[in-house]
Amino acid sequence: MDSGAGGLSVLYEVLKTCDIESTVYYGDNARAPYGNRGKRDLLYLAEEGVDKLRAEGVDAIVFACGTLSTCVLFEMKRIYPEIRFYGTFPPLESYAMSGENYLAVTTRATAEAMKKSFHCARIFAAENLASDIEKNLFSLSEVRLENHLKNLSAEPGIVILGCTHFNLIKNTFRAYFPNAKIVSGAENTAKMIASDCRYIYNNVFQGENEQKNLETRENCQKSNLSDHFCLKKYGVLTTFASKIENYLKIMPNKSPNLYFCDKKVKFIGSEWKTNLLAFANICSNLTE
Ligand code: DGL
Repeated sequence: MDSGAGGLSVLYEVLKTCDIESTVYYGDNARAPYGNRGKRDLLYLAEEGVDKLRAEGVDAIVFACGTLSTCVLFEMKRIYPEIRFYGTFPPLESYAMSGENYLAVTTRATAEAMKKSFHCARIFAAENLASDIEKNLFSLSEVRLENHLKNLSAEPGIVILGCTHFNLIKNTFRAYFPNAKIVSGAENTAKMIASDCRYIYNNVFQGENEQKNLETRENCQKSNLSDHFCLKKYGVLTTFASKIENYLKIMPNKSPNLYFCDKKVKFIGSEWKTNLLAFANICSNLTE
């Protein structure tokens, strides 16, 4: 879950990396951005999101949102001990220790929370960048980093993207900081979940679930295209988003599931269509 579409960048990594059957994506786009909110608001929004996902029967929740991960993950673990929670954090720790010339770009809430843990960390709060990205989700080249990254003193060697929305414009960051390495927390989150999945599979379910997994995959392949989209069935990925768009025009009230890497994603929340289309675009752009 995320405040909006930023978490799709984490979803993409998770689906590519982890051996999971299905996921549910909840984006709260209508109330984004989260990054300028205070802790009390964030707790309320996180609980509401978690309850929506619990109603879908999930047993693990990924905060695909730097702000929620940094500000309220700990509290959510306490409130919902039966759920496995994962966060997406700016990978700041090792850089802060190493003395390297890095800069973390985050939301305001993440910057405030992280400065408490890493006193001398170089963190820049790009306060309106996530909402700019959210507004331009289908025209990301319109987002001008120079409007958001003012007064940076020195050119960093490493730029840490501390908000998952920023991952959606990684190439814009690359162009803006041509000599810097650009890193994000999304890949690490996916790796952590993948290793947990392997551990759980090896230690708890081995054998027992094997048959069930095979059956589920088989059902997916048999299922009707009007209910599901299977990326593999469309040879040319760039046409995928427009095919989905047409489908949504024909059947606007149907909540579609989407398949990527043979894994099912169900999009929920009032803005599910926006997120589904944005994800199709991300897959088209990143997979090519
Ligand atoms: N994508 C989220 C994050 O990683 C939230 C951005 C926002 O809504 O301000 O922080």
